[in-house]
Amino acid sequence: MDFSFTEEQLMLQDVARRIAQEKIAPSAEHHDRTGEFPLANIQLLGENGLMGIEVPAEYGGAGMDPIAYVLAMVEVAAGDAAHSTIMSVNNSLFCNGILTHGNEAQKQKYVRAIAEGTAIGAFALTEPQSGSDATAMRCRAVKQADGSYVINGKKSWITSGPVAKYIVLFAMTDADKGARGISAFLIDTDNAGFGRGKTEPKLGIRASATCEIEFNDYVAQAEDLLGQEGEGFKIAMGVLDAGRIGIASQAIGIARAAYEATLEYVKERKAFGAAIGTFQMTQAKIADMKCKLDAALLLTLRAAWVKGEGKRFSNEAAIAKLTASEAAMWITHQAVQIHGGMGYSKEMPLERYFRDAKITEIYEGTSEIQRLVIARNETGLR
Ligand code: CAA
Repeated sequence: MDFSFTEEQLMLQDVARRIAQEKIAPSAEHHDRTGEFPLANIQLLGENGLMGIEVPAEYGGAGMDPIAYVLAMVEVAAGDAAHSTIMSVNNSLFCNGILTHGNEAQKQKYVRAIAEGTAIGAFALTEPQSGSDATAMRCRAVKQADGSYVINGKKSWITSGPVAKYIVLFAMTDADKGARGISAFLIDTDNAGFGRGKTEPKLGIRASATCEIEFNDYVAQAEDLLGQEGEGFKIAMGVLDAGRIGIASQAIGIARAAYEATLEYVKERKAFGAAIGTFQMTQAKIADMKCKLDAALLLTLRAAWVKGEGKRFSNEAAIAKLTASEAAMWITHQAVQIHGGMGYSKEMPLERYFRDAKITEIYEGTSEIQRLVIARNETGLR
């Protein structure tokens, strides 16, 4: 077993850290307060290969491996979680699915612009009445005599929905077949029949735009079908496996930022005549924060390694996401507590880390769904 990173992985980590610390972190408070989409920073990340880390160079990406993706995501998330949300959807949910299931023309048409950061991608699975129970979707794609599909329905909680140029959409092509009746489509949001609905006012990751989207007789051509008809659910699940590595990395980045701020604070802040870091109750929190952070990182790197080996990694990704997201919630909670009033104040970023961490326990599969996936894998029972 080798715990060292390659020179290329460290170089990408360094690029991500530099952009995160010099450009992203200084504007994080502004983006959180205003909810303004950070387009210039996203373009900068794209110019530096960070919007298509695992995308081969021939499609405009950095051509790196899943470990490099984890390292870069952690750095960007430590700068600002909202930026890393946009980054994770572009990398994992959009590019990954097309690279795995798309044909050559689809890869050329859809992946390049997203990987280079000149356009934004999105992933549309969730609907107002179906989140965890994804097969209960109502969005319909009806095949026409000429091979095209007419799509009608609504999707909700679409990350980057307000700004996305292209979307990977999941719709029912045969409702009688349940999961096997779902198909995936590549959508151009400039086409007729596509519309945007209400935007979501959110607790955290406020600069990552989220909205409802609607399809009213949208016509998807036969060549817009991703994979085979009926393969959509498996495509969605496979893509979410990759996405869960991204969200685990995001959780680690948020937690690390809170942990590092806390480490500084406990050395400076004095109470009862001593630095609060000398108190055993504070020391116990610091030790537990560090253990959870390292455990989350190692489990996430393991999931990325298995993915890089080309093996099924659903269980490892679920374990990583569950551990990292719950660690991030716990660590940011303790960081706020240790900072006391300053932790609760908007003058410091602690309360933002706390708010941002919460989403990692919800999206791309709640903690309950991760436990379900892990238990099914472990027991073989359903
Ligand atoms: N990879 C490949 N295939 C998979 C798979 C995986 N990870 N998981 C399941 N499948 C296959 C199964 O093998 C099965 O195939 P067969 O029909 O050939 O047997 C088929 O898919 C159906 O699987 P299940 O019977 O297990 O399906 P289920 O209805 O019981 O659902 C679930 C399983 C785990 C609960 C799943 O619905 C799930 O993960 N739900 C959560 C959805 C989710 O994560 N939503 C997030 C929304 S996107 C988002 O959050 C993005 C954002 O904003 C940033």
